[in-house]
Amino acid sequence: AAIKKYQFDIQVKNVSRLCHAKPIVTVNGRYPGPTIYAREGDRVIINVTNHAQYNMSIHWHGLKQYRNGWADGPAYVTQCPIQTGSSYTYDFNVTGQRGTLWWHAHILWLRATVYGAFVIMPEPGTPFPFPKPHQEFEIVFGEWWHADVEEVEKQGAIMGLPPNMSDAHTINGKPGPLFPCSEKHTFAIEVELGKTYLLRIVNAALNDELFFAIAGHSMTVVEVDAVYTKPFTTQAVLIAPGQTTNVLVQANQVPSRYFMATRTFMDAPLAIDSKTATAIFQYKGVPNTVLPALPQLPASNDTAFALSYNGKIKSLNSAQYPANVPLKVDRNLFYTVGFGKNPCPTCVNGTKFLASLNNISFVMPQIALLQAHYFNTKGVFRTDFPDKPLTAFNYTGAPLTANLGTATGTRIGKIAFNSTVELVLQDTNLLTVESHPFHLHGYNFFVVGTGIGNFDPANDPAKYNLVDPIERNTIGVPTGGWTAIRFRADNPGVWFMHCHLELHTGWGLKTAFLVEDGAGPDQSVLPPPKDLPPC
Ligand code: C2O
Repeated sequence: AAIKKYQFDIQVKNVSRLCHAKPIVTVNGRYPGPTIYAREGDRVIINVTNHAQYNMSIHWHGLKQYRNGWADGPAYVTQCPIQTGSSYTYDFNVTGQRGTLWWHAHILWLRATVYGAFVIMPEPGTPFPFPKPHQEFEIVFGEWWHADVEEVEKQGAIMGLPPNMSDAHTINGKPGPLFPCSEKHTFAIEVELGKTYLLRIVNAALNDELFFAIAGHSMTVVEVDAVYTKPFTTQAVLIAPGQTTNVLVQANQVPSRYFMATRTFMDAPLAIDSKTATAIFQYKGVPNTVLPALPQLPASNDTAFALSYNGKIKSLNSAQYPANVPLKVDRNLFYTVGFGKNPCPTCVNGTKFLASLNNISFVMPQIALLQAHYFNTKGVFRTDFPDKPLTAFNYTGAPLTANLGTATGTRIGKIAFNSTVELVLQDTNLLTVESHPFHLHGYNFFVVGTGIGNFDPANDPAKYNLVDPIERNTIGVPTGGWTAIRFRADNPGVWFMHCHLELHTGWGLKTAFLVEDGAGPDQSVLPPPKDLPPC
């Protein structure tokens, strides 16, 4: 194992896209930020120095941070922010994980521009469980706003204002040549006929679930969220914000130039579809003057494709990479995912729009939850988050005006060390046109079941896949449906769980789990680093 060191200087830089220049927050002046490369077993040390006028914190999305929540990064959950002019060193081990993950700012909406890939190679001498690719490329999706994203965030906090649509999708920070002034902001890869390539795809977009396809070429999915999958071939990939997907692509078509493209998936037709980003997949020796062909992407509201695609994703479950699904559950949780309205004298229309789990909208504390837990500071959070909704109702059939009442509070669930947890996330609002990509920090979980309509505790568990369900860190809760996940709570600390649509996180669609220390010698939260930012 090696020590990999990185320096992240948070700097504001003028960047122009689509004929608009604006100052954006960057890492080392780069947009997107640098890729972190490590091997399974390495120790990674990243010093973050904040030269920007915004507070900062960085999350290493999907890294488990065993006993070491101090390195996880969500502001006011595991640390207080790194103030302007200050530094903090994220120091962690990459244990038992290999594949593509990513990192991003975890405060305000700054992840709009502060993000990058995190590539973990297998241990030396351990090959991939699929044919060795000739070359690898990172493909990171994002969104570009002409507006200041912090202004967009404020706007989104109040209902009744127009939707906070970005102006373009991007591939590695570039929208591609279908947008004005974007010829030089076009990502391209060069391939050789007969060779196989690994694309490490990350969806770093703030609010859009995305389709991705390459004209004329199929892809074989081999990994999601740094977990190997049973390989399957597809014409298009579907990827929610927070998720990662590795695919193999064979350069086996007529040598030419082909477009790769990404656009939004929603369960309703999009009012406008003018955000499609493109990049170029170019065979060696083909001149740049050849006009590329556009891929056939699924329709933006192709829910049938989405259901079928997600159903194909299964853990590899080999002797070397078994899926150790908890078969017995110690703790059953059932959380509704919905929207509500609370009175708000200062807001447009006199009401404030909120999103909630079990009708509780999460309020961020002033002191990081993990700090409050570790130092036993009282009054920062409550551990009485209900295991199920206070009143059962027809979650997907009730009138849309039902169950809008929403409590607010910094309330989290407390879980015994090493207990096995099943959490059913039940969407309640048919108005939603997006699946909610839920992300749990500190863990991977197994996605044991999913369905449309109301979860049926009498019959649905019998249909669970407890053999080779996919293990991941971010999973969509379908519109008007539910998803059941299981995990073993073997990582003590305080771990955030939230919808990875930034708009919804801002409305309160989040909570955390306090996983208690175990009694054993290596089963408690590690002491905090000396440079942990003060609150
Ligand atoms: Cu990728 Cu809490 O986030």
